[in-house]
Amino acid sequence: MRSFFLFLSKNKSLTKLAKRYGFKFGAGRFVAGETIEQASRKIKGMNAAGFVVTVDHLGEFIDNEQEARESAKECVHAITVLAKEELNAELSLKLTSIGLDISRELVMQNMRMILDVAKQHQVNVTIDMEDFERTEQTLHIFKELRNEYSNIGTVLQAYLYRVEADIEELTAFDPYLRLVKGAYKESHEVAFPEKKDVDENYRKIIKLNLLQGNYTAIATHDEAIINYVKQLELEYRIPKERFEFQMLYGIRIDLQKELLNEGYTMRVYVPYGRDWYGYNMRRLAERPANVMFVLKGIVNK
Ligand code: FDA
Repeated sequence: MRSFFLFLSKNKSLTKLAKRYGFKFGAGRFVAGETIEQASRKIKGMNAAGFVVTVDHLGEFIDNEQEARESAKECVHAITVLAKEELNAELSLKLTSIGLDISRELVMQNMRMILDVAKQHQVNVTIDMEDFERTEQTLHIFKELRNEYSNIGTVLQAYLYRVEADIEELTAFDPYLRLVKGAYKESHEVAFPEKKDVDENYRKIIKLNLLQGNYTAIATHDEAIINYVKQLELEYRIPKERFEFQMLYGIRIDLQKELLNEGYTMRVYVPYGRDWYGYNMRRLAERPANVMFVLKGIVNK
């Protein structure tokens, strides 16, 4: 089932169809709106309740220069709306949405344009991590830009064998790192195939990153992992200001509130836009029970 949804998530024809037919098929379960203006109304409420946010303009695997430039302009627009509305929110983006698969020159131009505006408005930008084919390039770009900008972070995936070495190397850059389990279908040659090994490696890299003194965003809905982080906090007297929890919009809202009430920084990843298809397919892959929400969305239209 997981492989089936991950296969669907990368299907370009279905992505285009979904985009053309708009905001349908239960997308609202995981996506905050089609525009940043719609999303920002929801973010305002979330900020008022104490949550901080990272906003993601949906889009990935773009192979057309004009679309990549439009997507980058939308990121700039999102940053200006977040600043104007005085929202407590950062921006997350995928490099393939702004030209990674087209040319290095284009993606760097777009990133610098986005980071300049973000810096001006004191907004942080996190580069999401995509599939393994793009890991090396993504980290290379992150390192180059980290030397120029302080408002940039990235993501590392626990399912990759290389992740520990990446943390060791990136520590020299004083990085803002979001640690996740990993959402793509990867070969056993580069990633742990068994969930129990991914979970074990996730624990290992969380501890390593925290003890290296890097600011750590722990992005998971897994209560066992969250409890492990709380244990580390006590055992190593790690101040709450050195880490935060992150979860996806619409998932485990009960747990999000619980962590907030316990005094932790709780950041919600809020996606918006018309290109929701690949994102939603990965959420279905993580939990096939979510199919029911999607089916209900179709029936209710
Ligand atoms: P796991 O999959 O073990 O789930 C633990 C429990 O959480 C489940 O039993 C269920 O209760 C709940 N749960 C998990 N997923 C759910 C879902 N879709 N619907 C309902 N309940 C669910 N990945 C990546 O490769 N690159 C990236 O850049 C990012 N970025 C990112 C940002 C943020 C803020 C988050 C939270 C996650 C990501 N991810 C990601 C996705 C991540 O790699 C992973 O696929 C998901 O977080 C699911 O894994 P969990 O850690 O939640 O554990």
